[in-house]
Amino acid sequence: MGELIAILSGKGGTGKTSLCAGIATALAQQGERVLCIDCDVGLRNLDIALGISDLGALSFTEICSGSYSIQQAMPHPVYNSLYFLTAPLNCTSDAVDIQAFGEMLYRAQSHFNYILLDAPAGIERGFTLAARFAGRVLLVTGPDPAAIRDARRAGEVLELMGKGNVRLIVNRVNKKTVAAMGMTVDDIMDQAGLPLLGIVPDDTNMVLAAAYRQPLLGYTRGGAAAACRRIAKRIRGIPTRIPMK
Ligand SMILES: Nc1ncnc2c1ncn2[C@@H]1O[C@H](COP(=O)(O)OP(=O)(O)OP(=O)(O)O)[C@@H](O)[C@H]1O
Ligand SMILES: [Mg+2]
Repeated sequence: MGELIAILSGKGGTGKTSLCAGIATALAQQGERVLCIDCDVGLRNLDIALGISDLGALSFTEICSGSYSIQQAMPHPVYNSLYFLTAPLNCTSDAVDIQAFGEMLYRAQSHFNYILLDAPAGIERGFTLAARFAGRVLLVTGPDPAAIRDARRAGEVLELMGKGNVRLIVNRVNKKTVAAMGMTVDDIMDQAGLPLLGIVPDDTNMVLAAAYRQPLLGYTRGGAAAACRRIAKRIRGIPTRIPMK
């Protein structure tokens, strides 16, 4: 059975969607069958980070309703073991049938090694929808105090939900800025109260790749792309060094 991974944060804009796409493409490059699902109902943009258009892509609610099968998820044109479901535009996350969503994810686990769920910002229904069935949670924070505080709060909500496998990804790290703040990555982990899965540098290629409608890993090899490849390996149980740790 495939593994369900939710990519969450407390604060918005920390890089969930960018990292969901980067990690999903890295897992596919490493030979895994991957489905990524945009759970940001009404504000979807995972297609852009994947370097594709969601024109013609089925939404996860169309699969939930039983009108289509999970095998009809859109294949990525470059990474042939990567598939994509978009979020519906014309409803709110409150309208999503949680039981049907869980059943769809259960079916997906027979067809994919990894299913990545890109959550919306905040700790409301979209957050719980993505977290509810996940066996592993990647909580994305920036190195700034507001993002770290919100990550801690999100970690507490996940603990109340009974989620044990929660790991922190610190995104947009600029070594000099973090040092000037008098902080180490250990301090960030302590303040967020969560163990670390990875550190991703602040990298303008992230913005440029999206602007040129290319997947990050097809656009560049170093920086944030290399960090996504290392995180994908750790998810697959292959230990890799965490730079800066
Ligand atoms: N490591 C990085 N380096 C530079 N820019 C980044 C990095 N990660 C993300 N960004 C940029 O930050 C912005 C927000 O990223 P993204 O949309 O992935 O965040 P999000 O957490 O999904 O936001 P939301 O909460 O609105 O869903 C985007 O412009 C993205 O290109
Ligand atoms: Mg997003």
